[in-house]
Amino acid sequence: HNIRLARPEDLMGMQAANLENLPENYLMKFWMYHATTWPQLSFVAEDEKGGIVGYVLAKIDEGDSKEVHGHVNSISVLRSHRRLGLAKKLMLLSQEAMATIYKAQYVSLHVRKSNKAAIALYRDTLGFEVADIEKKYYGDGEDALKMRLNLENMP
Ligand code: ACO
Repeated sequence: HNIRLARPEDLMGMQAANLENLPENYLMKFWMYHATTWPQLSFVAEDEKGGIVGYVLAKIDEGDSKEVHGHVNSISVLRSHRRLGLAKKLMLLSQEAMATIYKAQYVSLHVRKSNKAAIALYRDTLGFEVADIEKKYYGDGEDALKMRLNLENMP
């Protein structure tokens, strides 16, 4: 599989993968906003024919503090292409760009507390830790784990 930076023409394919994989879906302008504001942080995985089989959509949060950090809004890989290491590669590329291009000190994300596969990816494979639990974060009332990884001593 080829993994590369997401381009504006990938947004439809990314949105389609998102619709198939996750209940949290977004309007096209949300995808467009990320791809145009932080064009170096979102990546796609494509199959032999150039179809999008996975993506990571990420941004930078500057907040009110001086601390710059990255945030992963959404990542998913089509069922047919899971457990091949694609999500790990997508996350590592985005994290590296956050650290090197934006000097982000850490990266954060939210994940459903029942999402065992994603939590294993973040915690066991990538080294994230649970920073907080946000009660009823999701539309259906499920809690979110807020997870965080320090980027300052990235290899
Ligand atoms: N069960 C247990 N551990 C898992 C699983 C699973 N089903 N899937 C991945 N992992 C862990 C393993 O440690 C795995 O390493 P291993 O295969 O060597 O054991 C490691 O994560 C890396 O796995 P990848 O192959 O890189 O992960 P994959 O490409 O399959 O994608 C993902 C993982 C994105 C969670 C996928 O299952 C998916 O798309 N799920 C539905 C959408 C989703 O839940 N997205 C995350 C929502 S939270 C957010 O977007 C911020």
